[in-house]
Formats: sequence, C-alpha cells, structure tokens
Amino acid sequence: MAIRIDGKETSRKVRGEIAKKVQELKEQGKVTGLAVVIVGENPASQVYVRNKAKACEEVGMYSEVHALPESTTEEELLALVERLNHEDKIDGILVQLPLPKHINEERVILAIDPNKDVDAFHPVNTGKIMIGNYEFLPCTPAGVMTLLKEYNIEVEGKECVVVGRSNIVGKPQALLLLQKNGTVTVCHSRTKNLAEITRRADILVVAIGKAEFITGDMIKEGAVVIDVGMNRKSDGKLCGDVEFASASEKASYITPVPGGVGPMTITTLLQNTLVASEKRMTK
Ligand code: GUN
Repeated sequence: MAIRIDGKETSRKVRGEIAKKVQELKEQGKVTGLAVVIVGENPASQVYVRNKAKACEEVGMYSEVHALPESTTEEELLALVERLNHEDKIDGILVQLPLPKHINEERVILAIDPNKDVDAFHPVNTGKIMIGNYEFLPCTPAGVMTLLKEYNIEVEGKECVVVGRSNIVGKPQALLLLQKNGTVTVCHSRTKNLAEITRRADILVVAIGKAEFITGDMIKEGAVVIDVGMNRKSDGKLCGDVEFASASEKASYITPVPGGVGPMTITTLLQNTLVASEKRMTK
C-alpha cells in the first residue's frame, strides 16, 4: 500500500518559512503585495482566487483582488495590468485563467511586467525556465518538485513520465524533471500505447484533466504517482486524473486529491511573490 504524500502538511511547513521572511521584510519597511485579477464568474476560478488571497493573508502579505465583470473589454483589462505594473505596493500580478473568450490571453500575459509575473507565464520567464536560469518557478510543477524533495524521492536517472503537455503544467514539469537529471517522456492525447509508456515510469506525473483516467494496471509496481488533476464526479465529489484506490495498490508513494498537489501550487505562488518583493527591494 502506497505512502500518501501530504501536500497540506508540506505547504504548512513551507508557508511557515515564507511567513518568517515576509515578516523580516516588513521590519525593513517593505510590505509584500500581490494583485489577483479575475474576469467573469467561473466558479472554480472564484474559489482559486479566494484561496490565493487567503493564503497571502496567512503569510502576512498584502493582497488585492480585482474582480471584473464578464463584459470587461480586453483594453480595460490591459489598462488595469498596466496600472498594476507601475503600482509600487504591488510586487506580483496574477491574472486568473481562463479569461472570457473575447479576451486574448496571450496579449494579456505579454502585458504583465516579467518582474511581477509570479505565475511565470510571460515568455521571458518561460524562456528562462527552458534554459534553467530562472527566478520565478512555474507554480504547479515546482510544487510537485517540492513534494518529491520533501519525501526524499530522487529524480536523477529515473524514468519520469509526464501525461499532459499544457503550457502551465506538462511542459514545464518535463523541464524541471529534466533539470534534476530524470529521463523524461511526455505523453498526450495523441500518444499511442499510453499504458505501455506509463508502465515504464518510476515517477509518473499526470495532468490531463480527465477524471480517474490512469488506473492501477497502467502503473508499475513501486512507482511514485503524482496526480495534478482536479475533477468533479457526477456525485459532486472531487477526484484526480488517477484512480486512487487501484493506483495505491501499485504505487510506493501517491498524492491524494484533494490535499496533494493542489495546496502546493499556491505555496509556489507565495514563494514567487516573495522573490519578486525581495528583488524590487534591492533595485
Ligand atoms: N488557472 C488554472 N491554474 C492557474 C494558475 O496557476 N494561474 C493562473 N493565473 N490561472 C490558472
């Protein structure tokens, strides 16, 4: 039976360290601030944004939420981002995705000052991640790496399989595992013989957004299984992209949903906001 990787406990520990540093900055006269922007009424996004603001408060950061109506134009949103770029008390800017269809996400991400881009979505920051020289961590993949480190799971030389190739999770996850000298394979919706590949994995990271898609028979005995998914089943219960019961029979370590990777994403966001704040202080 697999050991559960506890994202809540790991988050508590890391956030405690962040809170100490935020306090030290405060004593030097620097309040760390995050602006979160949400457009429209997507219920899942509203929960995420609320949790991000709450997490800031818990570690002693200043935060402000800009909740804009669905009818907001791209120009209005760009004008807000531009204002926040120049606002002194704001160290980090996060525009919650997805944005309504009439707004071009790429244009909005490009408008964020790369020095305040605590999501690490701007091409300047994704490019830095690509070459392995970066300040801002990609939030969810870096959260996964923190969990592996916390549980002393070595990546070097391991067969790492990432299922999913999104810009937010799959691609940067593959890069971070590669930087730790893993042998990395990226699978996606067009991959043939998926189970054959997932069964090779010593470390399997799943981020495809399909409820309970990966089952125990697709997992090698003793593998480490990291589930980035967050789906709602027809009975209203949350579940990941991995079928937890059957996967637990095979895995050596596994992340639950909820309480696994989820809390780590926001923890990385706080780490990035702290980095942005320290950087601006020394400028
Ligand atoms: N939507 C889903 N995940 C994220 C994230 O990490 N950051 C932002 N800005 N939007 C998201």
